[in-house]
Amino acid sequence: STVSDIRIYEVGPRDGLQNESKFVPTDVKVELIHKLAAAGIKNIECASFVSPKWVKQMSDGIDVMKTIKRSPGVNYPVLIPNLKGYETAMKCNIEEVAIFPAGSEGFSQKNLNCSVEEGLKRFKEVAVQAVKDGLRVRGYISCVVGCPYDGPIHPKGIAKITEELFEMGCYEVSLGDTIGVGTAGSVQRLMREVLKVAKPENLALHFHDTYGQGLSNLLAGLEFGIKTVDSSISGLGGCPYARGATGNLATEDLVYFLYGLGVNTNVDLVKLIEAGRYISNFLGKMTESRVNRALSDR
Ligand code: HMG
Ligand code: MG
Repeated sequence: STVSDIRIYEVGPRDGLQNESKFVPTDVKVELIHKLAAAGIKNIECASFVSPKWVKQMSDGIDVMKTIKRSPGVNYPVLIPNLKGYETAMKCNIEEVAIFPAGSEGFSQKNLNCSVEEGLKRFKEVAVQAVKDGLRVRGYISCVVGCPYDGPIHPKGIAKITEELFEMGCYEVSLGDTIGVGTAGSVQRLMREVLKVAKPENLALHFHDTYGQGLSNLLAGLEFGIKTVDSSISGLGGCPYARGATGNLATEDLVYFLYGLGVNTNVDLVKLIEAGRYISNFLGKMTESRVNRALSDR
C-alpha cells in the first residue's frame, strides 16, 4: 500500500503542556503556536477548557485563544469536557472543538470523574450544540489499547464508542493510546475492529511514546489507510490522570519519518526544530524528539 497526503494534527500546546508542572505563561504558549504555524503545521490544538482545579496549566485558554494571530488555512481546535467549557470557549471565536470520552471505566473515573456512559452523555450535549452552532467536532477516545487502571482494553468496546462519536456528529475520531502501551500487533487488532464501523479517512491515530513504540505503531496503522496523525512538538505530553504516561510521538520525528516515505507534509523541518527548541529551552529540559536531538548536535 502507499502512504500519501498525511494530515498532521499538532497537540503540543494542549496535550504537550497540560502535564508540565511549571506554568507556561500565555505569551510563551502563543509564541509556540505562532512558531508551529510558521513551520507549516495546519492543525494546532491550542488549549483546553477543562476545570482549572483539575488542570491549572490550561487555565489561560481564553487568553491564549484571544491573543493568537490566526494564519489563513490553519485550524486551531480546543479540547472541551462539558457544556460549561463549551460556553467559555464560544467567547473566543473557535471553529473546532474536541471531545474526549475514555475507552475504559477506570480512566474515565480518574480523568472525567464519571463513568464512560455518563461521559458520553455529557460529550453528546457538547457535540449536538457545537454542530448546531456550525462548528466541527472531533472525538478522541483515550486508552484504546490499555488503561493504567483496568489493564488491556478489548477493541470491540472501542469500536462501539467510535460509532457513537460519529453518530453525535464528529467528523473524525482520534484513537488515543494514552499511556503508550500499544504495539504494532495491538494496533492491528484495534484497526481491524474499528474499521468495521468507520472509514480510515475519518480516523486519526494518537500515540504516546512511553514504550518507544510510537513510530512502529504508526506504521502499523498507516497500512490500514489512516490519513491523520496526532503528534506533539518535541515529544512533550502526557496526561496528569494517566499514571506513567509520557510524551506523545514527537512532531519532528513524525515529519522526518514521513519524508522517508516520500510523503510531502509541506512542513519546514528546520523551523519545526526551532519551535521544539524554543519550548524545550523554556521548560529547561532536553527535547524528547530524537530527530531534534540529532540535528541539534551538529
Ligand atoms: P467535576 O469536579 O466532576 O465537575 O469535574 P463538576 O461538574 O462537579 O464541577 C465542579 C467544579 O468545577 C464547579 O466549580 C464547576 O463550575 C467547575 P465550583 O462550583 O466547585 O466552583 N467546572 C468547570 N470550570 C471550568 N471549566 C469547566 C468546568 N467544568 C466544571 N469546563 C470535569 C469534571 C470534567 C470538569 C473535570 O474532571 C475535568 O476538568 N477533567 C479534565 C481532565 C483533563 O483535562 N485531562 C487531560 C485531557 S485528556 C487527555 O489528555 C487524553 C487525550 O490526549 C487522548 C489520549 O492521549 O489518548 C485527549
Ligand atoms: Mg494524549
